[in-house]
Amino acid sequence: MKQLLIVGASGHGKVVADIAELNGYDSILFFDDNETLKKCGKHTVVGYSSEIDRYEGDIIVAIGNAEIRSRIQDSVASRNFPTLIHPSAVISPSAQIGSGTVVMANAVINADAVVGKGCIINTCASVDHDCVIGDYVHISVGAHIAGTVDIGNKTWIGIGATVSNNVSICGGCIIGAGAVVIRDVNESGTYVGVPIKRCLL
Ligand SMILES: CC(C)(COP(=O)(O)OP(=O)(O)OC[C@H]1O[C@@H](n2cnc3c(N)ncnc32)[C@H](O)[C@@H]1OP(=O)(O)O)[C@@H](O)C(=O)NCCC(=O)NCCS
Repeated sequence: MKQLLIVGASGHGKVVADIAELNGYDSILFFDDNETLKKCGKHTVVGYSSEIDRYEGDIIVAIGNAEIRSRIQDSVASRNFPTLIHPSAVISPSAQIGSGTVVMANAVINADAVVGKGCIINTCASVDHDCVIGDYVHISVGAHIAGTVDIGNKTWIGIGATVSNNVSICGGCIIGAGAVVIRDVNESGTYVGVPIKRCLL
C-alpha cells in the first residue's frame, strides 16, 4: 500500500489528494487542527497535525500559509516528502523541483528552472526558463513567471499575477491578485496593482 498523509483538510487539500491518487497513492489520510473536520472529500481526517508521527507514509503539507507549511514540513524533515505532479503538468526534463512541492493541473515549468521545497505551483501557473523559486513559495492559479526570475522563500504570488523576465522578488512578499511586477522587489511586504505598488495594510 502506498499511503500519503496530508496535513490540512481544506479545499486545497482535496485537490492535492486528487493529484496524489493520480500519482499512485491508494491510501490517503488527512490531519487538521480543526477538530470539527472529520472528512476531506471522500477521505477521513484521522487526527491533529502533531499526530502524523504515529502514522506511516509519505507527507504533504497542504496549507496555504507558508509559515505554517514550513514549520510543519521542517519539524518532520526526516520523513519522506514526495514531489507531487499532476499528469497534465508540463515539466522540462532539466527543471529541478524540491520535496513536498505540489505542481497542479496544466502548470508549466520550463527548462533549467529550479523550484524549492514545499512550494505550490498551482493550477495553470507557469514558471519559465532559468527561474529560481525559493522554498515554500506559492505561485497561485494562473500566475505567470517569465524567464530568469528569482523569487525568495515564502513569497506568495497571487492569482493571475504576472512577473516580467529578469526580475527578483525577495522572500516574505505577497504579490496581490492580478498584479504585474516589472522591477525588482527588495523589501518584504504586500504589493498590488499594475505595475505593483507597495500597500501598507
Ligand atoms: C493583496 C491581498 C492579500 C490583500 O488582502 P487584504 O489584506 O485582505 O486587503 P483588503 O482586501 O482589505 O484590501 C486593502 C486595499 O487594497 C486593495 N487591494 C487588495 N487587493 C488588491 C489587488 N489584488 N489589486 C489591487 N488592489 C487590491 C483593496 O481594494 C483595498 O483598497 P482600499 O483600501 O482603497 O479600499 C489580497 O487582496 C489578494 O490579492 N490576495 C490574493 C488572493 C489569491 O491570489 N488567491 C489565490 C488562491 S490560489
